[in-house]
Amino acid sequence: MDAIAELENRVKEREVPKHVGIIMDGNGRWAELRGLPRLEGHREGSNSVREVTRSARRVGLEALTLYAFSSQNWSRPPDEVAGLMELLREYLLKERDEIMGNAIRLNAIGELDKLPRYVKEPLDALRAESATNTGMVLTLALSYGGREELVHAARALAERVASGALKPADIDEAALTGAVWTHDLPPVDLVIRTSGEQRLSNFLLWQTAYSEFVFSPIAWPDFRAREFAEAVLHFQTRERRFGLTGAQLRRAGT
Ligand code: IPE
Ligand code: IPE
Ligand code: MG
Repeated sequence: MDAIAELENRVKEREVPKHVGIIMDGNGRWAELRGLPRLEGHREGSNSVREVTRSARRVGLEALTLYAFSSQNWSRPPDEVAGLMELLREYLLKERDEIMGNAIRLNAIGELDKLPRYVKEPLDALRAESATNTGMVLTLALSYGGREELVHAARALAERVASGALKPADIDEAALTGAVWTHDLPPVDLVIRTSGEQRLSNFLLWQTAYSEFVFSPIAWPDFRAREFAEAVLHFQTRERRFGLTGAQLRRAGT
């Protein structure tokens, strides 16, 4: 058995997280270190997306959410933004067979109307085509910001109150969970961020209230199946207490 299959088998022996979110960071620095244009880092990063998605599916995740482009990333130099959009289009066209062949449901969250038509069209097409797939849900966070999402949710709830469909007293955690873009996904168990940065950068603010965090020094283009499995193994050593004491948890577990 190869080393990666062995690592993945170890992951499967323990409780596998339902939902993992990844902040795929460090593409630009990966390229700059090699004297390459930043876009080459993004391009190599799409190979990591394919490898990590395959590994996530093999270990049995229900949901994988990838932070691919933030609301704030629109302010990068226009040629980098355009290059990223081109790569996204390429990814959506090239990965179609991989997604359909593996029964993955492609999902997207974010201010999707801000995406150029040449990205929005293949995105909508693949979302529609894969909508009835029952394997893992792969969510791309595109033009996504956690604050933007919460503003959108607050406005949607306010509109329902204004129309009389909802009472202010009915706004509870479940109502807000139902109003955010991830309404059909489980809470995030694990957030992985690559490239050594230790911050959330506006990723899934509501959904990560009780997530575990694993920070890897590896830049995203070098983060592959092995690194993913190692991050999940690390997560599996954590005790998630949700406000309780360790003793309470051990009692509940026996
Ligand atoms: C992550 O890599 C990809 C996007 C944010 C789109 P970066 O482009 O942020 O790479 P660094 O952090 O500058 O190295
Ligand atoms: C977060 O990375 C966004 C994505 C990975 C898509 P950034 O590189 O944009 O985050 P900051 O600017 O370092 O916080
Ligand atoms: Mg970055």
